[in-house]
Amino acid sequence: MRIALTGASGKLGRTALTVLRQAGHDVTALDIVGTRGPGFLQVDLTDYGQVIDALAGVRDGAAPAPYDAIAHLGAIPAPGLRSDVATFENNILSTHHVFQAARTLGIRNIVYASSETVLGLPFAIDPPYLPIDEEYPGRPESTYSLVKHLEETMAAQFTRWDPSLKIIGLRFSNVMDPEDYDAFPEYDADPKNRRWNAWGYIDARDGSQAILKALEAEITGFEVFVIAAADTVSSRPNAQLAAGEFPGVPVNRELGEHDTLLSIDKARRVLGFAPEHSWRDPR
Ligand SMILES: NC(=O)c1ccc[n+]([C@@H]2O[C@H](COP(=O)([O-])OP(=O)(O)OC[C@H]3O[C@@H](n4cnc5c(N)ncnc54)[C@H](O)[C@@H]3O)[C@@H](O)[C@H]2O)c1
Repeated sequence: MRIALTGASGKLGRTALTVLRQAGHDVTALDIVGTRGPGFLQVDLTDYGQVIDALAGVRDGAAPAPYDAIAHLGAIPAPGLRSDVATFENNILSTHHVFQAARTLGIRNIVYASSETVLGLPFAIDPPYLPIDEEYPGRPESTYSLVKHLEETMAAQFTRWDPSLKIIGLRFSNVMDPEDYDAFPEYDADPKNRRWNAWGYIDARDGSQAILKALEAEITGFEVFVIAAADTVSSRPNAQLAAGEFPGVPVNRELGEHDTLLSIDKARRVLGFAPEHSWRDPR
């Protein structure tokens, strides 16, 4: 596929660019920052003119040809990095413009980064049950997460307008590069340290695998998937974490000693997602 990858200069985007290219796809990197060169196009996603021009494949001297697919990761990636209003404007406009340009150009394969935050992070209010999954309505608790929630609402409507359209929202857990694993033993000092996301994480290489599998999935309509590593960040057993930090939260099934509490069952079942990397055995 000819794929346009937004946010390609970012933490997840850099690895996704490599993984998608290694899988044989022809990928153009779109970002507002980046290194000049072939395969990179500087685009401000909040400017619809730039977005539709880029996704139409308009380049100097070449006949335009819209991309086959879009992987949209470009965003301010967390609460508190910029003002709430700047985060809202940048992220909602960017995603709207990507969806709208795709619709206008007839690009029917869109995968984009949603976030674990819509599950109710930082869980000041307990989750409804453990393991946490996609089966309860979004619970955004920040402006950043509100935008991710609104993007999911937009995606549902875009796919209702055009039932042949595919939009997959990947609710990534906290993205980690291998060098980030040095900090993991510290998280164990106090189980409260990572209670805010139920001790989840996702290796950037496995997050990129999820993007690849979602792009290659032959489904239509809108679907969301929680994307996390197969295990928690903690060396403490899940029974202890759940009883100590989420007392009173129903546990729906056997948790496994260190199995992720952000359920990836749906991603495994529908996408064939199979995380390969763990902080316990960094490779
Ligand atoms: N990092 C995490 O832990 C995490 C967790 C869940 C979801 N996500 C989501 O995954 C995606 C990628 O996150 P990341 O960690 O790689 O973030 P990042 O900040 O490292 O990368 C995001 C990229 O998007 C680009 N960008 C932002 N606004 C843009 C605009 N208006 N026009 C063009 N480019 C723009 C930035 O320049 C940057 O290169 C984001 O959508 C983020 O919300 C990240």
